[in-house]
Amino acid sequence: MTLEKRILDDIAANGPMPFERFMELSLYDSEGFFGGDTLRSEKSGDFLTSPEVSALFGETLAAYVQGELDRIGEPFILIEAAAGTGSLLKPLLARVDVQAVAVETSPAARATLSTVVPVVEDVPPSIRGVVIANELLDNLPMALAQRVDGEWRERWVGSDDSSGLIFVDTDPRPEVVDWLDSYAGDVPDGGWVEVQLEARAWVSGVLGNIRAGSMLLIDYGDTAENLLPRRRDGTLRTYRAHHLGPHPLDEPGATDITADVNFTALMDIHPNARLYRQDDFLTEFGLRDRLSEIRKAELEAARSGDEFERLRLRTLKTEAETLLHPRGLGDFRVLILTVSGTADAHHAS
Ligand SMILES: C[S@@+](CC[C@H](N)C(=O)[O-])C[C@H]1O[C@@H](n2cnc3c(N)ncnc32)[C@H](O)[C@@H]1O
Repeated sequence: MTLEKRILDDIAANGPMPFERFMELSLYDSEGFFGGDTLRSEKSGDFLTSPEVSALFGETLAAYVQGELDRIGEPFILIEAAAGTGSLLKPLLARVDVQAVAVETSPAARATLSTVVPVVEDVPPSIRGVVIANELLDNLPMALAQRVDGEWRERWVGSDDSSGLIFVDTDPRPEVVDWLDSYAGDVPDGGWVEVQLEARAWVSGVLGNIRAGSMLLIDYGDTAENLLPRRRDGTLRTYRAHHLGPHPLDEPGATDITADVNFTALMDIHPNARLYRQDDFLTEFGLRDRLSEIRKAELEAARSGDEFERLRLRTLKTEAETLLHPRGLGDFRVLILTVSGTADAHHAS
């Protein structure tokens, strides 16, 4: 039985489901987008992430991890959540000598990852070190709400005989209203908001495990205020084979479902939160200097007639420019939540 048929049967038996339940099934069921044996985050897959674009991403993040290691000392562990194929960890660990583990839910990604680092079931309970998550939060199940006549309404997933899966209108749950009142901002009538309760719960939970160190959360999205112009249609969307896909209800399991991350709701979790643009963050940790060196070396190679080296450097230059592109990956956000390493924390793990 297909995933869509199982969802329709569930709705026939139990009534409409919250959108986050639908998203959970669509992405993480054994027939879900991340549930099967297909690797999604690679060049031949469905979307291209910064670590898949270039090893320069992991190499630049290595400078951040080294800084944290220098700040809090040993014992130190690096944890990457949603580590995909390991394309961030591999170049990073070639530059910084730290113990590292990965957490991944996708069976296809786990199989590849386990050749790079040990894969553990969950983020460990007591951490001195750094937790990184690149493009995890936009994929965590979220609820959906719409502003109607100055009130919040929730959109659940139901069905009708002619159209299959459809959005249905329900009274919003109290936790959804609390989140909307705190983090949606002044959304115009008709506007759509993705309510990211699970992202907040995940970040709070992991942060609570960090005795000393920090979390580095990288994703597309922005502050609540800057997301307001995108609220008329909302930011929920699907991807497949590097292109925007069909309506999120159309083909459960066959497309990625994602939305812009509301970083205001995450910055609020911890007093020591800093939000960067990805281009600024990577510049601070050396990528723009590296790009200048690559450009100079490319010229040298051209002058000396070393065509092979010139082409290698040109590829590397394009990768660095892609990571820094102000309207592309450079426009992603990097949130750092820092837990200071006190003497007490030093002995905690
Ligand atoms: C968009 S991919 C990003 C992969 C990788 N970080 C990259 O940048 O290429 C999102 C990944 O998050 C994983 N994921 C989703 N929920 C997770 C969770 N709770 N813990 C760990 N991984 C999770 C999915 O299996 C998927 O591989």
